[in-house]
Amino acid sequence: MGIRKSAPHVTQNERLIFDRSAPGRVGYDLPRLDVPSPNLESVLGSDNIRDLIPDFPEVSEMDVVRHFTRLSTWNYSIDAGLYPLGSCTMKYNPRINERVARFDGIAGTHPLAPEGLVQGNLEMLKTLADLLIEITGMDAVSLQPPAGASGELAGVMMIRAYLTERGSSRKTVLIPDSAHGTNPASAVIAGYAVESLKSDSHGCVSLEALQAAMTEDVAALMLTNPNTLGIFEKNILKISEIVHRRGGLLYMDGANVNALMGLTRPGDFGVDVMHLNLHKTLSTPHGGGGPGAGPVLVKKILEPYLPYPTVSINAEGKYCFDFDRPHSIGKVKAFYGNFTTLVRALCYVLANGAEGLKEVSSVAILNANYIKQKLRNQYDLPYDEPVLHEVVFSNKRQARHDLSVMDIAKRLMDYGFHPPTVAFPLIVPGALMIEPTETEGREELDLFIDAMKSIADEAETNPDLLRHAPHTTRVKRLDEVQAARRPVLRWKRQI
Ligand SMILES: Cc1ncc(COP(=O)(O)O)c(C=O)c1O
Repeated sequence: MGIRKSAPHVTQNERLIFDRSAPGRVGYDLPRLDVPSPNLESVLGSDNIRDLIPDFPEVSEMDVVRHFTRLSTWNYSIDAGLYPLGSCTMKYNPRINERVARFDGIAGTHPLAPEGLVQGNLEMLKTLADLLIEITGMDAVSLQPPAGASGELAGVMMIRAYLTERGSSRKTVLIPDSAHGTNPASAVIAGYAVESLKSDSHGCVSLEALQAAMTEDVAALMLTNPNTLGIFEKNILKISEIVHRRGGLLYMDGANVNALMGLTRPGDFGVDVMHLNLHKTLSTPHGGGGPGAGPVLVKKILEPYLPYPTVSINAEGKYCFDFDRPHSIGKVKAFYGNFTTLVRALCYVLANGAEGLKEVSSVAILNANYIKQKLRNQYDLPYDEPVLHEVVFSNKRQARHDLSVMDIAKRLMDYGFHPPTVAFPLIVPGALMIEPTETEGREELDLFIDAMKSIADEAETNPDLLRHAPHTTRVKRLDEVQAARRPVLRWKRQI
């Protein structure tokens, strides 16, 4: 108990790079100009010159290297330790994926290179497409969407195109209250009204609520499975039957398929369309806005509507892009999505193989359940159900001392861990959502569990310690509202 993983930040009192600037200091050594030097003022106009040329700091190469190396020590990363953000699946990204993605023939390929010159690259895309189809049990795929939310939008647009072609004008998409927040956003952007479905006391879709809501006006049910409580929808076959019987389609948010691989397949339990988050499930790096990959997979009935181009094999047996797709919803991303992200995913799937992927999901589930059992005496479990890849606690016990989830999360930083997701899913007041992923070993999980137990003790004995945490990080508690609403992102010289 009370073991600290690490000191959180190497503090070097780093100044801004602009403050290191000294007139005339440079970080380059170029040959002398052997042509007349251009007169910038005559080219740009003397009035504009200060506005057009930014106020660059004048620094040496070593100044730059040290500055950014020190800054990088303030940033927590998966390479530094467990990153238990629930829903985000921050798993370790094996270096072999990176190595392959950087091969010249992969990273250096021009996206407009003729098909004949990039047969190997096209083969990689086709192989990945086929493997994803096998993993999910669906019939066809587009690898183009660059993020999970983009896959969702493409999926709902396909549902709309399919129904519209059949003369249907259904206007509503049903979304359980345990769904990921991007789901309603995608449905609305695709032109649907969203109706929220209440979960039952086990954290699953209530069949009664679904029966009542599933009218002739409903185009689809959009289901995150396993849901954001980490719970598998055990009535999925009944759910699919109700939706289909009333003429709707079943969309599955498959961002959490890292809990299902080799164990079950959405295509086998009635899903019509789904997306995957390769940047979560298949280990390509993510966070900070990408790049990601959110392939969208469909059953046969929706295949004509997939974004174009798809990769296929032509009559001569060559790999090619198929643009001849008259029913397609169109392009959702330039070229063919984030190619090197797709390569990383392929590398990960091939390196693991079928048995390996099954083990990935099994260990992800084991790790989440290990944490659940070890912390159940310290933290409230609002839905005490068997979980898959993540577990959601709440701050109910600590709230007796007027402590919020934020106080717990901030204190965890003093123990050298990135905090878990807090205040989500919305159906759990004071949620603490923990996703360890399969890449963590028992040693790191035990350190995390000890830290969480220690914090639960401190909540009883010294709540102020939590209230003012973090104490050991370089920057103490931030005003989160100001940071979100009025971020200062730009440096300006004080005159
Ligand atoms: C369940 C679920 N659905 C959708 C998304 C959206 O994915 P993205 O952030 O790539 O748009 C996420 C992201 O974490 C997710 O956890």
